[in-house]
Order: sequence, then structure tokens, then C-alpha cells
Amino acid sequence: MDAIKKTVFSGVQPTGKITLGNYLGAIRNWGPLQDQYNCLYCVVDMHSITVSQVAAELRKNTMDLVALYIACGVDPTKSGLFIQSHVPQHAELCWVLDTISYIGELNRMTQFKEKSRKHADNINMGLMNYPVLMAADILLYQTDLVPVGKDQIQHLELARNLAERFNNRYSETFVVPEGLVFKQGSSIKSLQDPLSKMSKSDPNENAVISLMDDPDTIARKFKRAVTDSDTVVRFGEDKPAISNLLTIYSLTSGETIEQAEQRFAGQGYGVFKQAVADAVIAVVKPIQDEQRRLIADKAYLESVLKAGAEQAERIAAKTLAKVYRKVGFVPKIR
Ligand code: TYM
Repeated sequence: MDAIKKTVFSGVQPTGKITLGNYLGAIRNWGPLQDQYNCLYCVVDMHSITVSQVAAELRKNTMDLVALYIACGVDPTKSGLFIQSHVPQHAELCWVLDTISYIGELNRMTQFKEKSRKHADNINMGLMNYPVLMAADILLYQTDLVPVGKDQIQHLELARNLAERFNNRYSETFVVPEGLVFKQGSSIKSLQDPLSKMSKSDPNENAVISLMDDPDTIARKFKRAVTDSDTVVRFGEDKPAISNLLTIYSLTSGETIEQAEQRFAGQGYGVFKQAVADAVIAVVKPIQDEQRRLIADKAYLESVLKAGAEQAERIAAKTLAKVYRKVGFVPKIR
């Protein structure tokens, strides 16, 4: 790791199908950061078990997501790529941060409230503690920048608050991280309800493009996507559905919104939706092919994960030792 470069950390939960929103809002932005920053990209499996998982599926989803990170441009020779549960310090720091987190502030978290509503039969401590574990993920690596979508800003704010609170109480220990939220794509909306975000857990399959969808499915979902009342392909607050499609088109085709508006002027929604589907397929298909190839190469993925966990643990152990010293734990006799 280069000591002069700033540190970037981010992660995705290996829960269900990874969406076009996860890609456009987060993963897609990770590769280009690798030359300028020390990057750590983590598959956050410990977060996933805050809602019920089938063990075999979680294991498969986790390895698939490791392969997907690489297929989307994470280069393991440049970045640390690892699985959260492979680095025990995440849970250990989480415990210490728990003791400076207030139940009131965790209770107010939007995602906690949403998930509690959705999983009313399983409002477990982990669900409430989720943002504290996320803060531990980030603070362990003295992270400067966290590239995420808009829905994670509140969690990031908590991570910043906990870093400052710990620093104030125990003296300077953590870097206070900043979010890196890109202007375009940070909140991709549902194809069936442009006022809510595209979400992995949406029960309506037509609302979500999975990165694993085949071309026909992608085309069909865009065809069925809801539109706005007039027939003009224009970006604007009064046109949330078309604006969402224009954002997706712009990010996948490389054209600006203005160029796209001109291209589809007077063409109606049918032609436009087909073009959005084509642009998405052109991006997603090579990722799928590369992911499939990588999944078949288990030995390679395991070697990446071994190196990634070792690299991460070296940094994490250092931070945790510092934290343990500050809070007054007797150092382990070696
Ligand atoms: P997760 O797994 O829900 O989502 C992963 C990333 O995808 C972004 N995202 C979106 N971006 C744009 N439009 C959408 N519709 C959309 N849906 C999701 C998310 O903002 C996120 O960047 N708590 C995190 C995982 C996590 C984490 C961390 C992230 C755990 N520890 C430390 C950063 C740093 C989460 O649930 O992401």
C-alpha cells in the first residue's frame, strides 16, 4: 500500500441478485479509482445475515459477487478484494463502536425502519446494529473516501459521527471518512415506480434489472417500464420515469443526457426504451461472460481472497490494537 495515497473502501451485500442500481450507483465507479487511491473492496457477508439467508445460497452469492467485482473492473493486483467474515476485526471493532452508539440514533435510521417493516417477524439486534458494523468496516482501514449510492449517505453520516465521537472521547484515532456519491446514477429508480429506488428485495421482478438477466429479459423489462404522461423523451423533475431511463441510457451508452434527448426527439417511447435496453445489454453481457469465466476458476478466486484478506487484516489489526489500547484493554501477552 502506498502511504501517500488516500484510502477508498466500499462494499456490497451478497444478498440475492445484484441490480443495475448497485452497478451504476457503486461498483462501476470502483475500477477507475484504483490508480489514484489505495482501494479496498469488500463483500459484506456479515451484513447479509441480518435478514434470513439460506447458507448454501449465501456462500454461492458471496463467491459470485467476488467474481462480479473483478468482472466489473476491480483489479486484484491493484486493490484489496476480500470477504468481510475473513477479517475478524470487523466484528471486534463493531463491539467497541457499539459502546459509543446510541439506541436512539440507530432507531432513527431509515433503512432500519424500512427493513423492520419488511421483516416484522425478524427485527433482530443485527438489523439495528447494521450501521455500526458498516462504520467498523470503514473506520478499520482509516478510510478517506467511500464510494456509494445515495441510500447509504445516512449510514456514512453515522460512521463520521462515531469516528468523531471516539476521537473526542479517547483522542485522535480514526480518519473521518467522506462519502463519494457521483452526481449521475447514485439513485437508480424502480422501473415500475420511479419514485422509489431500484432494490434487490423488490418482489416485483419487472421493477428491477438484475445484472444476471439475459438480453431478452432486459428488453422485456424495459418495454414494460412505466413512463410519464406525455410522449416526449426529456429529462426533468416532472418526468421521473423518463429521467430515470435517460440516466440509465446515458451511463451505459456514454452519451450525455442532452445528446440522448436530441437523438430521441420526436421518436416516442417505444424506440427509446429499445435503445435503453440495447445500451444496457451491451454493458452487462461482457460482464456476465467474464463473471462466468471467473466463477469457473475457483483456484484463482481463492488466491485473490487469500491475498485480499491478508492485506486487509494487516491494516485492520493495526487499527484495532490502537483502539484497544485507547479504551484501556490490557495488551495480549505474546
Ligand atoms: P447494498 O448492498 O444495499 O448496495 C451496494 C451499493 O449499491 C448502491 N445502490 C444503489 N445505487 C444507485 N441506485 C440504486 N437503486 C442503488 N441501490 C443500491 C448502494 O448505495 C451501495 O453503494 N450497507 C451497504 C453495504 C456496506 C458498505 C460498507 C458500503 C457495508 N459496509 C462499507 C460501503 C462501505 C449496503 O447495504 O449496500
